[in-house]
Amino acid sequence: MGDERKSLQGAQEKKQLSLSQLQRLRKAFPLDRPLTRLLLKFDNMLWEYRLGINSRGESFSTAESDSIPYSTIPYRMIMKILRHLALEPSDVFVDIGCGKGRVLCCASRFRIRQVVGVEIDQDLCTAARHNTERVRGRQSPVSITHAAAQECDYRAGTVYYLFCPFGAATLNQVLARIRQSLQGEPRRIRIVYVNPMAEPLLERSGWLQMKDRWQMGNKFGLIHDVSFWQAARA
Ligand SMILES: C[S@@+](CC[C@H](N)C(=O)[O-])C[C@H]1O[C@@H](n2cnc3c(N)ncnc32)[C@H](O)[C@@H]1O
Repeated sequence: MGDERKSLQGAQEKKQLSLSQLQRLRKAFPLDRPLTRLLLKFDNMLWEYRLGINSRGESFSTAESDSIPYSTIPYRMIMKILRHLALEPSDVFVDIGCGKGRVLCCASRFRIRQVVGVEIDQDLCTAARHNTERVRGRQSPVSITHAAAQECDYRAGTVYYLFCPFGAATLNQVLARIRQSLQGEPRRIRIVYVNPMAEPLLERSGWLQMKDRWQMGNKFGLIHDVSFWQAARA
């Protein structure tokens, strides 16, 4: 009886050992990541074809030292964010550092008051204008401003989207401008921060409250963390 129990215990230990070995192997060779990347690439190509735009590619230089060069996120992730926001007809969606306008094109497919892009790089501005003028299924007006985000007037916006466009120094100035805009124009505003590298600034702001936070990898297509913020009327 004792021998039988010992051999059963031995077999269970062997099984556990092989399972943990498998887990270690999976960590060392994450087979799902290349597959995920491939699926997202294919999905992005389908979206670009469907919308009739070209927002692919990356930049490797920036206009200012605190700026982050152009890159974008998968359509799947953008659409998840936009649906989560449940945009209303009165909303004005502002992409601060809009690049080639991928997010603007997606937001313009919702029926809202206006979609606004701010971009410091002239060539990216031209690409964003080209894309937003021809995007299929546009339901809302789009305007694009070639300017430095820290010098813009934010009074019209209700939802501000930031995919890590710059570092903490510029973000600080932009947040101050958004806050200032509430004094002249009291309203409910929301901020979406993708890849929130300078998140402590928002946490310590004293006027913004985090409403939600998504961790990368928790949903298919989520390649960065995202935090959602809200400010009450001034
Ligand atoms: C990471 S990309 C995000 C692009 C776009 N929002 C998207 O998600 O597809 C950051 C963009 O911010 C722009 N940018 C950087 N600093 C800026 C500034 N001070 N004012 C306006 N745009 C800026 C860059 O040129 C770049 O296009």
